[in-house]
Amino acid sequence: MKYNYKDLGLSNTKEMFAKANREGYAVPAFNFNNLEQMQAIVEAAAEMGSPVILQVSGGARKYINKEVVPFMAQAAVAIARSKGSDIPVALHLDHGDSLELVKDCIDYGFSSVMIDASHYDFATNVAKSKEAAEYAHQFDVSVEAELGILAGIEDEVSHDAHIFTQPEEVEEFVKATGVDSLAISIGTSHGAHKFKPGDNPTLKLDILAEVERRIPGFPIVLHGSSSVPKVYVDMIKEFGGELKDAIGIPDEQLRGAAKSAVAKINVDTDGRLAFTAGIRKVFGTNPKEFDPRKYLGPAREEMKAYYKTKMVTVFGSEGAYTKASK
Ligand code: G3H
Ligand code: 13P
Ligand code: ZN
Repeated sequence: MKYNYKDLGLSNTKEMFAKANREGYAVPAFNFNNLEQMQAIVEAAAEMGSPVILQVSGGARKYINKEVVPFMAQAAVAIARSKGSDIPVALHLDHGDSLELVKDCIDYGFSSVMIDASHYDFATNVAKSKEAAEYAHQFDVSVEAELGILAGIEDEVSHDAHIFTQPEEVEEFVKATGVDSLAISIGTSHGAHKFKPGDNPTLKLDILAEVERRIPGFPIVLHGSSSVPKVYVDMIKEFGGELKDAIGIPDEQLRGAAKSAVAKINVDTDGRLAFTAGIRKVFGTNPKEFDPRKYLGPAREEMKAYYKTKMVTVFGSEGAYTKASK
């Protein structure tokens, strides 16, 4: 093992999820690709006293360089502590598509991994998820698996339609694999173009309730949960961007889910939109700007401010731990 997550100051998700389920909130899981996004996420979480899961996809890990990722996560913990906050911080592999990648991430300091074998048949999904869990648990690393398929783009595979999770499969899946949390498909989808304006996005809360009835207290994960804020879609377009009008998952539906067994909610697209809107605004109003701090800084602030509001409107995770000084 090259880096043990405990030596980096990171936490696995066990206690985080238990507390979230007891207290009726969900832990925010935000993706990052660069320094400024990581800073935005951890500063928002520390200032709100919210636990946080820093998510890195296989693609993001390649982009950042795998040698750098553990130190970014270690730095995130240091940022929170330097501000006086005791929030737990997890480093999580998002949509791990192979056991090889899962093992490599564990070797490089991840405290949590997702094995995404949801595109395979049930038996293969079970076999791969079980193998990942057995490996990860030797090192006290948490494992998330998925049952059902989300519409939208998932692991570079595009699905036009949802394949909702079948609740009658969850008990067997969880028992046979030994995973620690389960991502389910109940109508959320990945990316910015989830629904068209005028659509009425409705989560299948009946499936969630049935899953919860069958595996009481087991931590459930929702992917594809960005709200696609109109303010950022409009801002991007106002300052020269091209983006189809789209809407995401309504905040109040996610807030309702967060009060149930949903312990982790994944958001990436909203952060991308806020960050891009921040950059576009600078370039749109000051085309002469070429100091990266002058456009990445405002982008970071935009993303941070938006994520802080989301911890109240969606996750309900504000104040779960000690709030940092600003
Ligand atoms: O669900 C996927 C995440 O938004 C990560 O996206 O593979 O483009 O980094 P990515
Ligand atoms: P969004 O595209 O809705 O932000 O979903 C992100 C996600 O599920 C990451 O795994
Ligand atoms: Zn996802």
